[in-house]
Amino acid sequence: MWNKVQETVSFLKEKGFVNPDFAIVLGTGLGRLSQIIDIEKSIPYAEIPNFPISTVQGHTGNLIYGTLAGKKVVALQGRFHYYEGWSMQELTFPIRVFKFLGIENLIVSNASGGVNSKFKVGDVMVITDHINMMHEHPLRGTNDERFGVRFVDMHEPYNLQMITQFKAIAQKHKINLQEGVYLALQGPTFETPAEYVMVKTMGADTVGMSTVPEVIVAKHMNMNCLGISVITDLGLEGQVESVSHEAVQLAAKTAEKSVSLLVKEFVANYQL
Ligand code: HPA
Repeated sequence: MWNKVQETVSFLKEKGFVNPDFAIVLGTGLGRLSQIIDIEKSIPYAEIPNFPISTVQGHTGNLIYGTLAGKKVVALQGRFHYYEGWSMQELTFPIRVFKFLGIENLIVSNASGGVNSKFKVGDVMVITDHINMMHEHPLRGTNDERFGVRFVDMHEPYNLQMITQFKAIAQKHKINLQEGVYLALQGPTFETPAEYVMVKTMGADTVGMSTVPEVIVAKHMNMNCLGISVITDLGLEGQVESVSHEAVQLAAKTAEKSVSLLVKEFVANYQL
């Protein structure tokens, strides 16, 4: 893994991916952000050595390098999900690469189902903490100390300073920002009514199928993480409604504008 990461980092540096300040995982709800990044380079995953790519799955995606609000950013346009068949090590490989490109700050976004009765569809939530209920762990196996320690401190998975600054930006723009705990399940099925009750009982506000592996690997390498979730459907006790991928995408779209604005201002103002 170490050698592969270094090889990929060398490749990208040669291609001009130099001195980036932020890495952004453009999940559902942040697609629009790629339109406001002043893109200088865009490389299809298939052309990047060691990047997860499977002809079977025909995954399309690009690694972007450019400028957002005056800062250099690297962005994953198209994320890797565990339910697609990637191993935890494969799907978090880009995060390892980000660290060795010199990036200390990671912004991740996703769509999720709300189980907090105060939430509405289309709400944006800053993730304050997470619960890992995926059954495979990205750090399982021999630990390479060059990446980080064996037993990773998770007392502050999402950087408090980043959360505070993000909330202040939302307040300034009068954007109603929720905050809460994200619980990750493997997917790809959405939750049954009983599972939504379980998620809530466990202490979470939303549930989704991504983000947690990336944040764990980022914390392994001591990176600062900001997590943003768009509530695309609700799993409220006794009133769980039908949900589809299309409905999720549509609901995420309604929040894209405010999420893009928030992230842009955050990147512009964040003191590195
Ligand atoms: N559950 C899991 N993942 C999701 C959901 C959900 O309700 N909505 C969007 N992603």
